[in-house]
Amino acid sequence: MCGIIGYAGHRPAVPVLIEGLSRLEYRGYDSAGVGFIQDGHLHIIKAEGRLSSLKAKLEKHPCLLAVNGIGHTRWATHGIPTERNAHPHLGGDGKLALIHNGIIENYQELKAELLEKGYDFQSETDTEVLAHLIAEGRKQQPDMLHAFAWALRRARGAYAVAMVSPEDPGTVFAARLAAPLILGVGTGEHFVASDIPAFLPYTRDVVFLQDGEIVRINDCSWQVLSLSDLSVIDKKIQTINWDMQVAQKNGYKHFMLKEIFEQPHVIEECLSGRINLKTGTVSLPELQNLPIPERLRIVACGTSFHAGLWGQYLLEQIAHIPTVCDIASEFRYRNPVIGNNEMTLVISQSGETADTLAALRLVHAQKKTVLGLCNVIGSSITREADAVIYTQAGPEISVASTKAMTSQMLVMALLALYYAQRKGIIDLQALNQAAKLLKNLPGILQEALPDMEKTAEKLAVQFSKAKDFFYLGRGHAYPLALEGALKLKELSYIHAEGYASGEMKHGPIALIDSAFPTFALAFDDDLFAKTKSNIEEVQARNGSVILLTDRDVNPEKGMHIWKIPSLYGPFTSFLALSAMQLFSYCMADYLGKDVDQPRNLAKSVTVE
Ligand code: M6R
Repeated sequence: MCGIIGYAGHRPAVPVLIEGLSRLEYRGYDSAGVGFIQDGHLHIIKAEGRLSSLKAKLEKHPCLLAVNGIGHTRWATHGIPTERNAHPHLGGDGKLALIHNGIIENYQELKAELLEKGYDFQSETDTEVLAHLIAEGRKQQPDMLHAFAWALRRARGAYAVAMVSPEDPGTVFAARLAAPLILGVGTGEHFVASDIPAFLPYTRDVVFLQDGEIVRINDCSWQVLSLSDLSVIDKKIQTINWDMQVAQKNGYKHFMLKEIFEQPHVIEECLSGRINLKTGTVSLPELQNLPIPERLRIVACGTSFHAGLWGQYLLEQIAHIPTVCDIASEFRYRNPVIGNNEMTLVISQSGETADTLAALRLVHAQKKTVLGLCNVIGSSITREADAVIYTQAGPEISVASTKAMTSQMLVMALLALYYAQRKGIIDLQALNQAAKLLKNLPGILQEALPDMEKTAEKLAVQFSKAKDFFYLGRGHAYPLALEGALKLKELSYIHAEGYASGEMKHGPIALIDSAFPTFALAFDDDLFAKTKSNIEEVQARNGSVILLTDRDVNPEKGMHIWKIPSLYGPFTSFLALSAMQLFSYCMADYLGKDVDQPRNLAKSVTVE
């Protein structure tokens, strides 16, 4: 769960690396470091804390002559977040410097072997073990490339690594196994990085590296080789159509706010080519060669799990497909029984979440079909799934997921309509109505967002002293309640619990008093009256309530009514989700929290 970047070219390398790291900081931010070759010598500069600490240190260090190097931003797995444990790590007294994202599972046995050979360890990391192992390999192998491959063949676990060495001063070596690594192909310069935005200002031409591949770059060439025998692999360059603007804040105070306000556009992008208003049809060509599943199993983590749970309601109601929803970390260790005509849908923004990827592999091991729903092109899940639907939300930089969830929910809605249409169980009029509503959604949301932000700001001030929060919802509002609570806790560090409204009486209501507010979701549908009764039960115990609703409700004492525009049935969820995202955003910002990079979190959870 770290970010890595390597550069070989004609520009001063360190500023390129630092700029790249600033776009990878979402992957981890407890320490950072760079390694580069200057005057034939290896230089390593590292700092504990955010990238700004490293930048401050670099100001005192002349480094503008180096034209190749590596950079790392860390999310600690082995060893506490200190400068000593920050990357790069040296191998064999400065023969090489290595950065790493992932975990070397057999590092202890390798370390014991290296200790016996007299290697001295400066850190508690698994990465340093690999660095020394490469140095050891160099004693027996003809050159650095062979030594790099030799050591990696002995490593078990997951890695994306990059290395520089004074022995090969113009070259950066990199490799991947179960961790993302992308090659950026420029003119007179080349890059490797964990994610595309790291080098997007310089090139849009990329090569997605696969597990078991090594890449060697210098200023004028790149080459991909097989880890097993160093044979050359023929790879295709793909051109990415993202622009830098999407990876910048565009005048917003935080990426999260920008990403919330991007949602109308994301919905348009996600619907594009998938809904035909003239014929009233939904098309998902990615699925045309797959049979309609008799049962569907959705597996995901965090916010993606909530999107899946929301989708479960729609798939059962609209497409009549029995659906279950599983948390990936539970599913993978449960010995699940997967039926013959069951399809598994794995949902992941990053496409790299370790538990979700493991779930996919478990389903494949049982020779069953996996459909991926991902945002990041070329990510591990997209490469391993039998079919992939892309959410087309663009890069999500803020650690807290917002626009990705909206796009995931939208695809779930399309999926339900698509299967209902293929099964012939939805009439054309209903399909047309749903298609029109979805097409109108971007405009409705766009218009509503500024008012929602104002309401969220006011409520944030009023509720900023709360230490706890309940989020309540029923039906398709229940997954939204879970998501609302997750957003509040991850951003503001306020304890928040999402509950199905009907569960309150079974215990949680004991917590309600005047200091324990409730954020309730109740939409204009058959379940409104039921949720309203649950809200009254909260009020009867002096609990204050924020009621997010699309229905006209008479104000009552202790109740803050937050009215949002009404859409047909479950589609109001898209407005409700944005409102809750804004509430959490405003709370965190008002409380002075680090909105885009909350403590202890990382964007891509590539460890279990
Ligand atoms: O990349 P993924 O969608 O697989 O990530 C899953 C979760 O790690 C992610 O949604 C996480 O819960 C976010 N912090 C939520 O804001």
